[in-house]
Amino acid sequence: MAAQPDEVQIPGYTYGSAAHSPVTLDELEKLKASVTFGEEDAALLRRAGGLLEDQVEDILDVWYGFVAGQPQLVAQFSRPGGAPIAEYLQAVRPRFGQWIRDTCNRPYDQAWLDYQQEIALRHTPARKNETDHVSSTEVVPLRYLIALIVPISTTVRPFLAKREEDPAQVDAMLQAWTKAVVLHVALWSRPYTRDGQW
Ligand code: HEM
Repeated sequence: MAAQPDEVQIPGYTYGSAAHSPVTLDELEKLKASVTFGEEDAALLRRAGGLLEDQVEDILDVWYGFVAGQPQLVAQFSRPGGAPIAEYLQAVRPRFGQWIRDTCNRPYDQAWLDYQQEIALRHTPARKNETDHVSSTEVVPLRYLIALIVPISTTVRPFLAKREEDPAQVDAMLQAWTKAVVLHVALWSRPYTRDGQW
């Protein structure tokens, strides 16, 4: 896919040049089928992407507020046992915003799969802190990745509803979004698991 506007200027965003994912496209297809993510969902996400495009910063405000309000979450952006690292929070933010756009607009192909492995590793001791050159905690515990599926999904509803009157359409887009978030976290869980158990 052609480069999207702005993405090349996002520090640390290496979409298109990430290492090859150990997950195969066949495994991805089976995972998509398991979470019932189909072509219709991809189309609903593209529609959602258009509605969310100019609301990305507002969504990030909500998510950052959620993380800031919970010590066990903000700890992952802090020095171990210490204070939040403002530069770290700021540095991740544009990549997080780009992730919203990518989730809605990108085809889930090899380049996408490769970047999911990169994001996964950035939550684990393999890569956490490396991109932004910070000394924060070593790992985002997997249980919090799984738990955040709920707020990352439900908080998007009002932003969709602001741009779409029909609640059935909002529900359909939100369901596609939720499936996509679950799909991401299922992929991101791989480096956390023992060999052969993913
Ligand atoms: C559904 C759950 C989650 C989603 C969708 C998500 C999404 C993301 C994205 C898109 C990035 C930036 C990736 C990039 O570099 O391009 C990121 C990085 C990061 N996330 Fe998450 N995340 C989730 C859960 C969590 C949780 C629970 C925490 C803990 C508070 C967390 C902490 C971090 C940190 C610290 C980074 C920076 C990692 C680094 O050093 O590179 N994430 N996340």
